[in-house]
Amino acid sequence: MKEKLEEIRQRIRVCAKCSLHESRKKPVPGEGNPKAKIMFVGQGPGRNEDETGRPFVGAAGVFLDRMLKAAGLKRRDLWLTNVTRCLPLEGRRPRATEIKTCAPFLLDEIQALHPEIVCPLGSMALSLLLRKPTRIQPFRGTAIPTENYFLFPLLHPAAAIRNPALEEKVLEDFRNLRKFLDSDPILKPPPGQKSLF
Ligand code: URA
Repeated sequence: MKEKLEEIRQRIRVCAKCSLHESRKKPVPGEGNPKAKIMFVGQGPGRNEDETGRPFVGAAGVFLDRMLKAAGLKRRDLWLTNVTRCLPLEGRRPRATEIKTCAPFLLDEIQALHPEIVCPLGSMALSLLLRKPTRIQPFRGTAIPTENYFLFPLLHPAAAIRNPALEEKVLEDFRNLRKFLDSDPILKPPPGQKSLF
């Protein structure tokens, strides 16, 4: 599993499948615990991620860390990744063709990691994983069973940075994720056994 994730990382590092590779500084592969049961999927790198080649290291990452803490989760137990891997010029949103070109990396990561829960952060990640344009609002903070894992969509932390009035809603989503981890009989450890999360 670790080898497969490393192989995907190498493919992302040298990817030149769309024009975004011409302007990026560093592509951003997923990172985290190769045994993670929970994967978080953001939209794509911002400036700090482009500089460092690592996901969620800028302001959204700092905010994400606060939300993870509220849900009793630690980065070292998770896998953090994105829909797209290269920063578009002037920080524009990735185009549909760029998302389509990049999508196999995410799908391969999911197959290699085999998570129990995949948390799309925002509508771009949710739409890709549901394979149809989908707003996050009706689904946020609830679990959607799929064939191989639970989808648990959450508002993107960056939404609360752009609009501080949303902070409480983002927090509510992460608290709901905690409740789901604590309540679901499949995910809950038997009495006496330490929680995986
Ligand atoms: N940083 C990331 O890695 N992904 C996002 O979606 C936002 C910031």
